Amino acid sequence: MGKCCISIWTICIVIILTPVIVILSLSFVTHKPRLYIQDMYVPALKTTTGSSNATRLNTFIFIDLKLQNVMPFNGIRYGDLNLTFFYASNASLPAVGNYTAAGFYQGLKKTAHRRVVVRTSGLPWDDAFVKISGGSVVDIRVELATTVKLRRCGRYLEREAMVVKANVRLDGSGEEVNKKTVRLVG
Ligand SMILES: *[C@@H]1O[C@H](CO)[C@@H](O)[C@H](O)[C@H]1NC(C)=O
Ligand SMILES: *[C@@H]1O[C@H](CO)[C@@H](O)[C@H](O)[C@H]1NC(C)=O
Ligand SMILES: *[C@@H]1O[C@H](CO)[C@@H](O)[C@H](O)[C@H]1NC(C)=O
Ligand SMILES: *[C@@H]1O[C@H](CO)[C@@H](O)[C@H](O)[C@H]1NC(C)=O
Repeated sequence: MGKCCISIWTICIVIILTPVIVILSLSFVTHKPRLYIQDMYVPALKTTTGSSNATRLNTFIFIDLKLQNVMPFNGIRYGDLNLTFFYASNASLPAVGNYTAAGFYQGLKKTAHRRVVVRTSGLPWDDAFVKISGGSVVDIRVELATTVKLRRCGRYLEREAMVVKANVRLDGSGEEVNKKTVRLVG
C-alpha cells in the first residue's frame, strides 16, 4: 500500500512541477526587441489634396517607430537608434535621409514610440511623383542600426549590435499601402 501511495504522489508532483518549470524557463528566454514602422507619411506623395505646391514642397518623411520589449523578466537598454532611408526604386542612389534617436531604457513588457520627422535630400521626387500619379507605388527602405543590452535581475548582459530593415510601400495617400504596420527584420 505504501509503495502505491508514493508513486501516486510522485506522479502528482511531476504533473504539477513540469509545467511550472517549463513556463519559468521559457520566461527567461531572451528575445531581441521587436521593431516596427507603425506609420509612415510622406506629404509630398499625397495626390488626393489636389497636389498643391505647398504639399509638394514638404519633402519630409514622418514616421512612427514602435519598439516592443516582449520579455517579462528582462529590460532592454538601447544605444542610439540610427535610422537611414533609401529610395528603394533606385538601388544606386545613396541614402536620402537619416535620423538618430537617443538611446533609452525599456522596462519589462513595455512598448515605446518614437515619432520623428526626417529631412530628405537627393530623393528623386519627379520620379516618385510620376509613379504615384500613374497609380503606382513608391518604396522607401528603412534601415535601423543600434545596440541592445539586456538587463536581468539588476545586471546588464553583454551589448549586442542589432541591424534591421524593411521596405515600406507608399501609395497616393502618402501613407503605407493599406495603412499596414511593417516589421523591421534582420
Ligand atoms: C505651382 O508651381 C508651378 C511650377 O513651379 C507654378 O507654375 C504654379 O504657378 C504654382 N501654383 C501655385 C498655386 O502656386
Ligand atoms: C538611379 O539614380 C542614378 C543616380 O542619380 C541615376 O543616374 C539613374 O538614372 C537612376 N536610375 C533609375 C532607374 O532611375
Ligand atoms: C545624414 O543627414 C545629414 C543631414 O541631413 C547629412 O549631412 C549626412 O550626410 C547624412 N548621412 C548619411 C550617412 O546619409
Ligand atoms: C550611429 O551613428 C553614430 C554617428 O554616425 C555612430 O557613431 C554610431 O556608431 C552609430 N551606431 C550604430 C549602432 O551604428
